[in-house]
This record gives sequence, C-alpha cells and structure tokens, in this order.
Amino acid sequence: MEENQDTSISGQDLADMLSVSRTAIWKAIKSLKEDGYIINATSNRGYLLSSSSDVLSSKGIREFLFNEYKNIPIHIYKSVSSTNNEAKIAILSGAIHRTVIISDEQTNGRGRLGRNFFSPPKSGIYMSIILKPKLNITNSVLITTAVAVAVCLCIEKFSDKQAEIKWVNDIYIDNKKVCGILTEAITDFESGNVESVVIGIGLNLTTKESSFPPELKAIAGSVLHTDVSFSTRNRIASEIINTVLLICENLEDRSFLEIYKEHSMILGLNILYKKNGEWIEGYAKDIDEYGGLIVVLNDGHSVILNSGEITI
Ligand code: BTN
Repeated sequence: MEENQDTSISGQDLADMLSVSRTAIWKAIKSLKEDGYIINATSNRGYLLSSSSDVLSSKGIREFLFNEYKNIPIHIYKSVSSTNNEAKIAILSGAIHRTVIISDEQTNGRGRLGRNFFSPPKSGIYMSIILKPKLNITNSVLITTAVAVAVCLCIEKFSDKQAEIKWVNDIYIDNKKVCGILTEAITDFESGNVESVVIGIGLNLTTKESSFPPELKAIAGSVLHTDVSFSTRNRIASEIINTVLLICENLEDRSFLEIYKEHSMILGLNILYKKNGEWIEGYAKDIDEYGGLIVVLNDGHSVILNSGEITI
C-alpha cells in the first residue's frame, strides 16, 4: 500500500489483487484509518493513500535501513509509559543487540536527572535502541556522546537547521532544546560488566510551540515547522538508527568526537557546573577522548566532568 501512495485504486481491484472480499478490504481500510493513515475514498476512483500520512511502521522504518540492519527487531507501539522501560522489559525477555522500541507517544517519558520528557502523540520520535556491547563503564559515557553526534547529523540531513549540543547530550536548534538522550546501562550484578545499554532518544519533530506545557514553552522547540510528508518519521527514525548503530559499533574510531566538538555550544565559554549541590564556575576547554568535559577552574586547575549538569 505504501508503495502506491498518491495512486488511486478501487476496492474491487484491491480485493482481486489480494483474493479477499470487498468487505474485507473495507474493514482493512477502516482499521488503517484508525491507525492514522489518511485514505480518501472517491466513488469513481477508489481509495487514495494521502502523501500526508505519517504513520510509524516497522515496514516503513525498515525500508530505509542499511542492508546489514534490515532484519533488526523493531517493536512499534501506539502508547507506552516509556520506551526505555519497555526496552528494559525486553532485555529481561532476551532482546538481542540492535533491538529497537519506538512509540507514537509516551505517557511517562523519562529524562535525565529524574526529569520528565514531554512526549505527545504523533509529533516526535520516541525511541530506545538496545545495544549489547562488550563495554566497560568508560565507554558508556562515550556512547552518549556518539548518539548526540548521530542525532545532530540526522537533524541536519532532514532540515536546513544547524544543530548544537549542550554537554552532555541535549540537542538545540536556535537556542531551544529539540532532543534529549537518556542512556541507561544495565550491569551484571556480580561481574559489574555492562551487559546491555539502552539508548533512549526523544526528538521533538513537529510539536507545536503552543502544545508544550507552560514551563517548557520558552526552552523547548521542534525540528520542523512545516507539515510533514509521507512516512517522514519512519525515514528519520531509520536514519537515526543507521547512524547510531554505525557510530556506536565503531566507537574506537574517535572521529565522531571532532564532529561533537564542532557542534558543541559550550566549548570556549565560561560555564557553571554542579558539584555536591553547589554551582562552580569554570571555562569549558575541551572534550577528552572518552567524551568527558575538560573544565579549567578559576584557580587554574582542570577537572574532567563525566556526567551531571552544566549551565552557560
Ligand atoms: C533528557 O532530555 O533529559 C533526556 C530525554 C530522553 C527522552 C527519551 S524518549 C525515548 C526514551 N524513553 C524515555 O522515557 N526517555 C527516552
């Protein structure tokens, strides 16, 4: 069906092609409309799948995945509390490396530092990717950095906007946060090794400014400000999956760190970071080879930050 967007086809032709009754076609069309597909019906031409249908589907995502990722498990939901939570449940049930969980909306999307992530239906990409790498904790920080780079590159491919990264991995366009990343490592209790990493990506794609809650209106934004065309979220989701997997599976190639630095909105600026509840001033000098932020303090000493929060 998706291949024939913008081409009308009659109910009878569809029934003949699929060897089913007209009633079965009518029921299937009704169900597709309930899923969000925009299908117009005219009496003399038949059914027409509108190019403005933007429905998440595993087939739609798979279509744009690199060949080596074509068969990865993709689980699509209409609504979940949090795709990261779903991913953790999936890990307990044996989910394999590269499993993707994606939902149209999240009712309890989680952010870093115990915050919420606003995840209204059909206007964003809320996705978790499970990695089962052989890693030590140092590399988990690097993964977070790598994912921020991957998302920036995707944003710049699909929009004419310049994406910027606020350390560690918040992504901004025009000084408004459009994407947050929550990376959670699942460690083996006995060995202390990281068994799985859940990379949670929340991208505001078409969320209207008016629909953000009052406390986010001034600080949150979206990537696109036009109507999306057919399968936009599927395309962008697969581009993110391709790029995240490519970079994260080749972490030893640190070239992404240069892209990270180019996109940093804090390097070369004075910043404040929080330590034991207190804000400390410093100069954001560089990113080290593990994704840590090198900060020069007022007394000339340097510290390396690996997590936490900074402000400009
Ligand atoms: C942040 O901004 O602090 C991080 C936000 C991360 C949001 C994503 S949306 C998909 C995944 N599921 C969640 O519950 N959170 C992450």
